Amino acid sequence: KILVVNFGGQYAHLIARRVRDAGVYAEITTPENAVEKAREGEVKAVILSGGPSSVYESPSPDVPTEIFELGKPVLGICYGHQLIAKKMGGRVARGKGEYGRTLVKVVARDPLLEGWGDEEVVWMSHGDYVEEPPPGFEILAVSENGYIAAMRKGHIYGVQFHPEVNHTAKGALLLENFARRIAGVKESWRPEDHITRIVEEIRERVREGQVIVAVSGGVDSTVTAVLVHKAVGSRAKAVFVDHGLFREGEPEKAVALLRSIGIDVIYVDAKGRFLEKLEGVADCEEKRRIVGETFAQIFTEVVSGIRDARYLAQGTLYPDVVESGAVKGADKIKSHHNVAGLPPWFKLELVEPLRDFYKDEVRKIAKALGLPDEVVYRQPFPGPGLAVRVVGPFTREKLAIVRKATKIVEEELARAGVLRKVWQAFAVVGDDKWVGVKGDRRAEGYVVTVRIVESEDAMTADWSRVPYEVLEKISSRITSEIPEVTMVTYAITSKPPSTIEPC
Ligand code: XMP
Repeated sequence: KILVVNFGGQYAHLIARRVRDAGVYAEITTPENAVEKAREGEVKAVILSGGPSSVYESPSPDVPTEIFELGKPVLGICYGHQLIAKKMGGRVARGKGEYGRTLVKVVARDPLLEGWGDEEVVWMSHGDYVEEPPPGFEILAVSENGYIAAMRKGHIYGVQFHPEVNHTAKGALLLENFARRIAGVKESWRPEDHITRIVEEIRERVREGQVIVAVSGGVDSTVTAVLVHKAVGSRAKAVFVDHGLFREGEPEKAVALLRSIGIDVIYVDAKGRFLEKLEGVADCEEKRRIVGETFAQIFTEVVSGIRDARYLAQGTLYPDVVESGAVKGADKIKSHHNVAGLPPWFKLELVEPLRDFYKDEVRKIAKALGLPDEVVYRQPFPGPGLAVRVVGPFTREKLAIVRKATKIVEEELARAGVLRKVWQAFAVVGDDKWVGVKGDRRAEGYVVTVRIVESEDAMTADWSRVPYEVLEKISSRITSEIPEVTMVTYAITSKPPSTIEPC
């Protein structure tokens, strides 16, 4: 496997995902643990990630020089590249920097750049730069602004640009070259090949008692439930708490699917309890708090009634495990997770079968498990559901509008064949009104905002350039099928500065 040393930010995750896309397993570690980890036999090479720091700051993240002396290939990216320069006797200076798409010229042929043309477009994002390479380093590529873009000495490489970013046209190829040609990794790693091992591990761990899985219809919790069920059969109990904030038909479909696989599902209709508490609440965080708290209460009540409930299985993913450079304790539940806020006396041991995987890998596992495409490619959906898409005081009327409008948005995108290409697509309603003409009468109605975004990891997102005809169809269907709506707008702000959800 390849070890990725995390110098902060989201870079390390992108790098690990790209390496895994090339079929090579990658794991993230902290600078403090880097050398110890790098010594492990399975680690074939090390990547030093980019990060927001400057090697001039003090303290700035660092790794012991030993990392270069293990005889394993090292690739420094951006900050990692500058750190190599500084530690090995080169000079790093502060310059004008380069940001965005930049042209680089390859000046020396190397296995790292196999498949690259003489000139390639890369993604740069740096202020500091390597002014003078350390002794013995050969320059492999130079940017259009004259900066060192890639360098090498023996098994140590540095690149100033970001090969992990999609805008670097041949970046994925560079990472694959590093893993395959330079580190010599032969075996291919595919997430779906690990199903048997995961199931075995759950079976080993959970020798007696019931395993509770909180399911929501999402790909993570559905896959978790299926894996647990494969491991312990009828000792797996899925609990579906219906908070009344799901999209149309969602609870019914989710429950039916799990039951068709033979999983025991306890369906809890708690719609009334949630909606009553939410009625009239305008503040966004308050809505989230109410949903989280009510969920925890109900979930506790239900699980308390299950005899011999011992374990709680949840679909925690790798990015939740590795957070901001620190590997968190295995027993902590993420605060925005659905099952957060359980009372301390409520003692269940956590089972997290997906903690080594990224979302797109979970989708591959879902596919391999034979789950229907509807689940495999299901869009991310916030835990507090449609409550965060009703802006201003919460009312059942606005909830019904959002639900109907979202269905139309999804149907029209599916018809146009773009639903799977976008990250999320939904409708939002607030209290803005617009005068409309219904029949021959003027009538004031709601404004519905349609939000369709493209994204890779939800950290950044771009509004989707859907064809006008599709938007037109969405708009005319919403105003004709939902009489309370007189205007449809399209949200054309990316993230940042906006967020994906309205609240
Ligand atoms: P924002 O709106 O912050 O959303 O750009 C980023 C992604 O996270 C999802 N999201 C949530 N997911 N519980 C969740 O499980 C939440 O409270 C929550 N809020 C936002 C959102 O749908 C988007 O994909």
